[in-house]
Amino acid sequence: MIDHTRPEIMLRERGNSAVIPMRWKHNALYLLDQRILPHDEVWLEYRSPAEVATAITDMVVRGAPAIGITAALGMVLSAFSHRDLPMRHFQKKWREDATEILRARPTAVNLLWAVNRMKAVFSENPGCTDTGELVSLLEKRAFSIWTSDIEANLLIGKHGGKMMPDRGGVLTHCNAGALATGGYGTALGVIRSAVFNGKRIKVYADETRPWFQGARLTAWELLKDGINVTLAVDSASGFLMSRGLVQAAIVGSDRIAANGDVANKIGTYNLALAARAHDIPFYVAAPISTIDPDTASGKEIPVEERQGEEITCVAGTSIAPAGVEVTNPVFDVTPYDLVTAIITEKGIVSPPFTSEIHK
Ligand code: MRU
Repeated sequence: MIDHTRPEIMLRERGNSAVIPMRWKHNALYLLDQRILPHDEVWLEYRSPAEVATAITDMVVRGAPAIGITAALGMVLSAFSHRDLPMRHFQKKWREDATEILRARPTAVNLLWAVNRMKAVFSENPGCTDTGELVSLLEKRAFSIWTSDIEANLLIGKHGGKMMPDRGGVLTHCNAGALATGGYGTALGVIRSAVFNGKRIKVYADETRPWFQGARLTAWELLKDGINVTLAVDSASGFLMSRGLVQAAIVGSDRIAANGDVANKIGTYNLALAARAHDIPFYVAAPISTIDPDTASGKEIPVEERQGEEITCVAGTSIAPAGVEVTNPVFDVTPYDLVTAIITEKGIVSPPFTSEIHK
């Protein structure tokens, strides 16, 4: 029997965190609607994989590991809806749903990784002729993807917490926190762990244009867990560094190429350049599931381009002349040589990354 409350219990007991982006109850997936945080905390219910794919595309849930876990749970919903079909049809329908979910967002490799982990259930159980049994195995796998992500974050926090300054400013970009993962967070997990162990850290959160993940989500979840956070516009980072207010920068990632190039929220590259110019360490915290050994370098990483309205409209109000041309790449790639270290659940990797990443 799967204990569906296990992720929340792990987070409360071992992570000291009350923030979680997804829940599973009575064979349905519930997502905390991140589009309307911090003002409204609304949980939306999902019962079909098509609805889950749309939720990922529309960013009800976002952040690479959270996208992967949501996709895995969406594939459990697919299994439920096709369980009465004969095995061959069951598998065909399930694979069609997997293809649809994979199209939801292109950059976060955790999505592909999680769906491949789910697909592996079929190849690992070639003799299984009972769809009911497969449904249970798929559900078990999805929950293990979720709880392993929390375990990974706790370990990333443990390793990375030691790299944080004993006191001072730590700047982060976007939201690589509990809301972007199965819980606890990668970059914010490192900060959570450092603070829990007595370090006196003041977090500077970039607001993160255009979607304001920093202002709306990072500020919200850090305040909720009682962590000292100060919000700034993205373009303030160089200035804050020049005034000696920032001792380290730490971000998450959507995909790390085999050479260590890091795709993350647009603006991360500028931040890494500013950190280098001020001789400040620039850390990337990510689980192994974010490392893509099949992508040789950042040049090959698909970068999602989203609709221009995300830039021309702020909170429903147009702020740009009608008809202006807009470019809205929502991720960028930071070359590996600007990265001081990558913090994973297996430990800390320093440049040159190529040999280390393949271990
Ligand atoms: O567009 P988003 O909000 O999905 O982008 C999220 C990020 O860029 C995060 O930094 C990244 O996914 C790492 S989350 C642990």
